[in-house]
Amino acid sequence: MLGPPGAGKGTQARLLQERYGARQISTGDILRRHREQGTELGVRAREYMDRGALVPDSLIIEMMAGELHGGSGFILDGFPRTVAQADALDGLLERLEQPLTAVILFESDRDQLVRRLSSRWTNPRSGRTYNAQSDPPRVAGIDDQDGGELIQRPDDQPATVQKRLAVYDEQTAPLIDYYRDHGYLAAVDAMRPIDDVAAEIARLLGARPAA
Ligand code: AP5
Repeated sequence: MLGPPGAGKGTQARLLQERYGARQISTGDILRRHREQGTELGVRAREYMDRGALVPDSLIIEMMAGELHGGSGFILDGFPRTVAQADALDGLLERLEQPLTAVILFESDRDQLVRRLSSRWTNPRSGRTYNAQSDPPRVAGIDDQDGGELIQRPDDQPATVQKRLAVYDEQTAPLIDYYRDHGYLAAVDAMRPIDDVAAEIARLLGARPAA
């Protein structure tokens, strides 16, 4: 899943996981769990995440080497985010003998992204997100599934969102050409309603629901 902050990568990765059984691996969620647990990685990641910068490649690549293993497929959400991470992923997948199926690019409108993130509510335990405008929980501030409290992410403050968008343009957008050149890129219009985007991704992947 490749796209700017707020484009809906996590929303769609979770739907694909529920409907088709492939495991969602979100680097953002993993890093937030490390922060919660106060691990050394979590402590080091915090200073970058809070100012909207990327966590250094060496830390991310080491973390992902521990997360990826063979077996059934997985959906990468928020990784890779730099060309160095993409090169490392190629090596990891080769070792696992698990080829990349596709890279889904979330094509997005900037103003709408900022609006989406300012009305996003997140379950800090599962990473599941809601949106006060487009996808509200049944009870405001409460997760439909576990009944626990929803929060607003500190890096969803407008100034930090602008920084994250600039970082995306500078460090992550070069991956669009990288994956187009390698023949993996498939684009979706991420500004359409959630279910329409999901249907388009399923169509692109030729996905069938899990038995
Ligand atoms: P991360 O958590 O990965 O954040 P992000 O990539 O900025 O993506 P977001 O989670 O903000 O957005 P999303 O596209 O998943 O949108 P969502 O589905 O929630 O990373 C956070 C930080 O961790 C980074 O800044 C960096 O510091 C660090 N990090 C993570 N990975 C790293 C890496 N590989 N390398 C280095 N550092 C890394 O949707 C957003 C909102 O819109 C929700 O409210 C949702 O309900 C709503 N919505 C979704 N789809 C639609 C739709 N179609 N229509 C209307 N509303 C919608």
